[in-house]
Amino acid sequence: MKGLIAAGGKGTRLRPITTNRNKHTIPLANTTMIELAVNKLAQAGITDIGIIVNIGDLELEPILGNGSRYGVNITYIEQTGGALGVAHVIKIAREFLEEEDFVFYLGDNIILGDVKDFVDTFYDQKLNALLALSQVKDPERFGVPRIEDNRIVEVIEKPDNPPSQYAVAGIYIYDKNIHNIVENLPPSPRGEYEISDAHTELIKNGFEVGYSEITGWWKDTGKPQDLLEGNQLLLAQIQNSNIEGEIEKTVTIEGNVIISEDAQIKGNSFIRGPVIIGKHTMIENSYIGPYTSIGDACKITNSEIEHSLLMHNITIHSSKRIVDSIIGNGVIITDKEKTFPKGHKLVIGDNSQVEL
Ligand code: G1P
Repeated sequence: MKGLIAAGGKGTRLRPITTNRNKHTIPLANTTMIELAVNKLAQAGITDIGIIVNIGDLELEPILGNGSRYGVNITYIEQTGGALGVAHVIKIAREFLEEEDFVFYLGDNIILGDVKDFVDTFYDQKLNALLALSQVKDPERFGVPRIEDNRIVEVIEKPDNPPSQYAVAGIYIYDKNIHNIVENLPPSPRGEYEISDAHTELIKNGFEVGYSEITGWWKDTGKPQDLLEGNQLLLAQIQNSNIEGEIEKTVTIEGNVIISEDAQIKGNSFIRGPVIIGKHTMIENSYIGPYTSIGDACKITNSEIEHSLLMHNITIHSSKRIVDSIIGNGVIITDKEKTFPKGHKLVIGDNSQVEL
């Protein structure tokens, strides 16, 4: 069995975070989404993984290399022809996949559970395709199955009137029969090759399309709010504290925290987990509240931060409490009182969002 991860696309709904980065490089609980996806497949015993990347992508290979660090072999496949839909990704990977069964994983999906359970169901039930389903409040955002007598009879992409409360998650298992189906699939009215149409075609052609309901959580990180929720869900999984960095005696730590090597927590700081703090980050006289991840080489002084996702090389020195925020690499946040004239002085890139 092979693995295929979709990791291209423009991430338009996540701008400005994705203005100059591939969304799969965004860290959640300090691990990039692409690494989370590779780890999921590796845990399921899948070692031969193809990753679909944008043409000329220079971001993913520096993170993953050849995959040996994760115990897998990675083949990078460029998404020639452009982003023409999820089913198109399978077409592009045709040569890599050969005739083997494969797990197809959309790299912006995160799940708590084990992909291995889906693989077992796929083989136990002798399926041609297995779809992972999750109950959601907003099925109209997703592919939605119509289920009759415990069988999927149709899947509709982003329906106005969803036929069930389930979303088809971006974790699928197929045998080689999917290739013929996607080869002959017409584009949808929005011009994309829809994976939901491929599923309906499989069913129409008499193939066995089964499903497993996702137990625990699943998140498609389409919007900025989803990133914060994904970060929170992953941080909630921290079972034990692991402190490798240096912590002064004056610091208070509560709950589960991961403090990476060469981090320093100083002075009158208070860290309330679940929290993760990256390498070479310095925190002094600050409060870091639950569900916060802070990347590498940040400097946080005299500040309060809670329920936020901070990437790398960030400097914060502010008496304003920062909550529910996503802060990209290299950002500097300081108090306006420090320099004249007083007032909010902003240097902000295109399409940023600020609440003052
Ligand atoms: C894609 C699929 C959709 C699926 C979703 C899961 O949608 O087209 O069927 O439910 O992934 O993440 P997209 O996220 O590209 O809008």
